[in-house]
Amino acid sequence: MTMETTTLSGLELLHNAAHNKGTAFNDQERKNKKLEGLLPPSVESLDLQVQRVLNHLDSKKDDLERYIYLIGLEERNEVVFYKTVMSDPMRFIPILYDPIVADACLEFGHIYRRPRGMYITRHMKGRMAEVLKNWPVKDVRFICVSTGGRILGLGDIGANGMGIPIGKLQLYTACAAVPPDCLLPVLFDIGTTNEKLRNDPLYLGTREAPVSEEELNELTEEFVQAVQTVFPGCCIHFEDWKGTDAIRYLDRYKDKVLCYNDDIQGTASVALAGVFSAMNITGGDLKEQRILFYGAGSAGIGIGKLICSELRDLGLSEEEARSRVAYMDINGLIETSRDDLSPEQQKFALNAEPTRDLVKVINDFKPTILFGVSTSAGAFTQAVVEKMSEINERPIIFALSNPTSKVECTAEQAYTWSKGKALFAAGVQFPEFEMNGKTFLPGQANNFYIYPAIGLATYAARPLLLDDECFIVAAHATANQVTADMQKKGMLYPSQHNILETEITTAVKIAEYMFDNGLAQAERPENIRSWIEEKLYNPQY
Ligand code: NAI
Repeated sequence: MTMETTTLSGLELLHNAAHNKGTAFNDQERKNKKLEGLLPPSVESLDLQVQRVLNHLDSKKDDLERYIYLIGLEERNEVVFYKTVMSDPMRFIPILYDPIVADACLEFGHIYRRPRGMYITRHMKGRMAEVLKNWPVKDVRFICVSTGGRILGLGDIGANGMGIPIGKLQLYTACAAVPPDCLLPVLFDIGTTNEKLRNDPLYLGTREAPVSEEELNELTEEFVQAVQTVFPGCCIHFEDWKGTDAIRYLDRYKDKVLCYNDDIQGTASVALAGVFSAMNITGGDLKEQRILFYGAGSAGIGIGKLICSELRDLGLSEEEARSRVAYMDINGLIETSRDDLSPEQQKFALNAEPTRDLVKVINDFKPTILFGVSTSAGAFTQAVVEKMSEINERPIIFALSNPTSKVECTAEQAYTWSKGKALFAAGVQFPEFEMNGKTFLPGQANNFYIYPAIGLATYAARPLLLDDECFIVAAHATANQVTADMQKKGMLYPSQHNILETEITTAVKIAEYMFDNGLAQAERPENIRSWIEEKLYNPQY
């Protein structure tokens, strides 16, 4: 694959990750490409190269070391990297992404080896298009852009956040086989509030306080327009911007340019998928559910809005839909007497007494589903889980806060305190849990079930825009892939072992929706699945 498409030779070829085959260059290639003498004599198969990588990984002392090794491997040989990662996604997703990517981000300036992706700063104002043209690939189809302003429950970590767009885009390929050469990670460095980082000599970002909202609006507008000019048809994936910025820019751009916000729309979609799955298991009706969110930030509000949108599709009025949803945040119950609420939060304010007591709110509001999106570790105490179990035959509990150190309760706690009644999912993968001879399989409500499939459908169908319905379609498609056997074990999400198959199936449904609703620009093929399958990246030489 790679040899035909490159004119590179010699060391330049060996140092080009996209084209390098390393010890797998055969004798003829070594002759033709001036590689003779530059490689050890043994010609190896890709499988043997992967075996060596697996041996190296086994010898590393922890997952952060494995992360550093894998990132280095991607920079040396992309095919071996993706072959390795795609051979065992369950093992490698947690290293490239949650939870290890969080450690990698905290240490970003310290473990830094080589530049990756692009850094856009306020000092490039007026020249962003010119700067974007420095990227060597012209057909960029996805930019994942983060300010690092709100990472994985770690708060503002500025330019250290670059680990996130890198990891997110790696999963487009690892989970949904989107070709890696069309992916561009961007860190939008607007400064950071993080004093500790600004004082760290090894910090790699701009050592300034964040720009004002007004300046950020201008910078973002310039960036969005520059992307349209330099990479027409490119989808902008907003990731980990500060909550209010995230909501503002999604509102501003989603009907104008091809873009989405994974923290808001991807999270909402994967949460909705879990709710659909739970309904399949309990036989419950979504219209009858009452949903309490602990945390009212971009994730919680995004999930609540998408659930309301689905409830309206099912025939409820706007008001009825909203009455099924309640929120608590750091200042307690979101209720009408509060004067610190955003316009989005105000829409969900309950007519109730102020309180900070979660057990009391559960007792009064009687939720069937409890979401944790608060970054408040341990907030779902034994009393909380017991109260949920007292009022529900099968309490549905999502403890979504990442990383593991922020989770509201663990799988073990949810199953033990509910005496095995809870249907539970977390943002991270907890191990299987045995209780009274029964095995429980906690779900991982992670956006990686959704956004790579959105990416694959977008890559193939080339939509002009992405609307909310794309994310509802993705949620249904994901939930419908949880088999009856999996449901019996309490699984709310499909297995990660065959994630590629799952994502392709989801992408086919999304692409169908795009074609049916006039969003797609590509010509509708006769068989959408085989048409998508022809476009998949395959890590082979
Ligand atoms: P955010 O910062 O926008 O919102 C956090 C919310 O939690 C705010 O409403 C805040 O008032 C509230 N909160 C903070 N401390 C609290 C406390 N002690 N008690 C009650 N409420 C408290 O953050 P965002 O984007 O909404 O994310 C929240 C969490 O959800 C993060 O840990 C994030 O990693 C996780 N998340 C998980 C996803 C997944 O697993 N699929 C996807 C997106 C987010």
